[in-house]
Amino acid sequence: MASYDVIIIGSGPGGYVCAIRCAQRGLKTAIVEGRETLGGTCLNVGCIPSKALLHASHMLHEAEHNFATMGLKGKSPSVDWKQMLTYKEDTIGQNTKGVEFLMKKNKIDWLKGWGSIPEVGRVKVGDEVHEAKSIIIASGSEPASLPGVEVDEKVVVTSTGALELGKIPKKLVVIGAGVIGLELGSVYKRLGAEVEVIEFLDAITPGMDAEVQRQFQKILVKQGISFTMGAAVQKVETTKTKAKVHYKLRKDDSDQVVDADVVLVATGRKPYVEGLGLEALGIKMTKRGQIAVDDHWQTNVPGIYAIGDVIEGPMLAHKAEDEGMAAADQIAGHHGHVNYGVIPGVIYTHPEVGNVGETEETLKEQGRKYTVGKFSFMGNGRAKANFAGDGFVKILADAETDRILGAHIIGPAAGDLIHEICVAMEFGASAEDLALTCHAHPTYSEAVREAALACALGAIHA
Ligand code: NAI
Repeated sequence: MASYDVIIIGSGPGGYVCAIRCAQRGLKTAIVEGRETLGGTCLNVGCIPSKALLHASHMLHEAEHNFATMGLKGKSPSVDWKQMLTYKEDTIGQNTKGVEFLMKKNKIDWLKGWGSIPEVGRVKVGDEVHEAKSIIIASGSEPASLPGVEVDEKVVVTSTGALELGKIPKKLVVIGAGVIGLELGSVYKRLGAEVEVIEFLDAITPGMDAEVQRQFQKILVKQGISFTMGAAVQKVETTKTKAKVHYKLRKDDSDQVVDADVVLVATGRKPYVEGLGLEALGIKMTKRGQIAVDDHWQTNVPGIYAIGDVIEGPMLAHKAEDEGMAAADQIAGHHGHVNYGVIPGVIYTHPEVGNVGETEETLKEQGRKYTVGKFSFMGNGRAKANFAGDGFVKILADAETDRILGAHIIGPAAGDLIHEICVAMEFGASAEDLALTCHAHPTYSEAVREAALACALGAIHA
């Protein structure tokens, strides 16, 4: 029996980052992973492969739509789907091998197999039982199922199957206008599929700033994605190669049906806790099936911790990473902290969407007075040159103190720009602080400064 200070179950961004931090703190650490490669959902079947396909399909879009305008003449590229999948697999490989290298470099043992916790202080992997002073559950999440819908990962797929379809479908029906549905819907639209998104609510991307939701949907419609809103999918019937999606429209209770070659079920994810032995240990769960933890990520059973998608909060790789580092610090006798008020969210469509902090809707709910500073990318020289004038930056600041409370960006590089605001918020900055900061010209980031200026006297280029 090997003995460790910490054993982490799961090697996604939460688990492997936590392991590195534990090692940096001088703790003898092991990580348990049953997949062939490290990196969890994010690296193997999530963030990383989807970004490869988004990048490749965006390049095709640029070639088809903007090259000729820029004087780049020639035949548009055609899609070699097999090669695109190879590129995606190579991208995954580089990243998962990178994590393996980091484990070795930090002297972290990889215990290969699926782990369970037979008793406090013990982790079982295969036939072996290992000892650990602290155990951290970082087992992530899996796609949530939908009643009446059977996933075969061929005709009816989750995000996992959607990343390796045999061919590009003629018609893709996406159930759910959340992050996964819109990112992967964009990929297949650009690759030539007809894409229809069926969404239960009246707005896309639940929880996001309403103005961004509207603008985002308009842009996606302009790109050719169609939306059926206020529609609850009831069931999906399949033959070997086709599907029929049955849904009920909320406005008139009518039953509708639509044909598809492939159906992507993107209606959320749920914590993955199967086989860990949590019930026998008496670990408390929340009503939504997440592991309940205290402020230090410890469960009700001392010595057992949980981080990432298995606990409450947004299911985001970077939120899991932050919790991983903080939990490691805590276990090593330091102070671990996560500021849940400043966790950015990004959708990697084109244009990208980035957000952080409060929305106008949440501020209204709280009865807080706020100012809005908004600036359109149409007024940004760099964006205009790059065919990226769609979208805006919107900053919300406290009406009395001018402290930045939130920001919402739809536009070029929104997923990077949002971090300027995250840093500002971490430092308790006012909109004026941002507005007084010199921004290089010509950059997209000038639009952020302009939005900050718009919180007071007004933007310059508006
Ligand atoms: P989601 O929770 O973002 O969206 C699911 C959508 O499906 C909702 O709009 C919901 O109203 C709709 N829906 C549910 N049942 C339905 C039904 N029967 N008929 C029609 N519509 C229905 O879930 P999604 O997109 O599956 O993502 C799962 C998780 O993964 C999220 O927490 C997301 O944040 C995370 N993720 C994050 C990414 C990023 O940060 N870029 C990328 C991919 C996933």
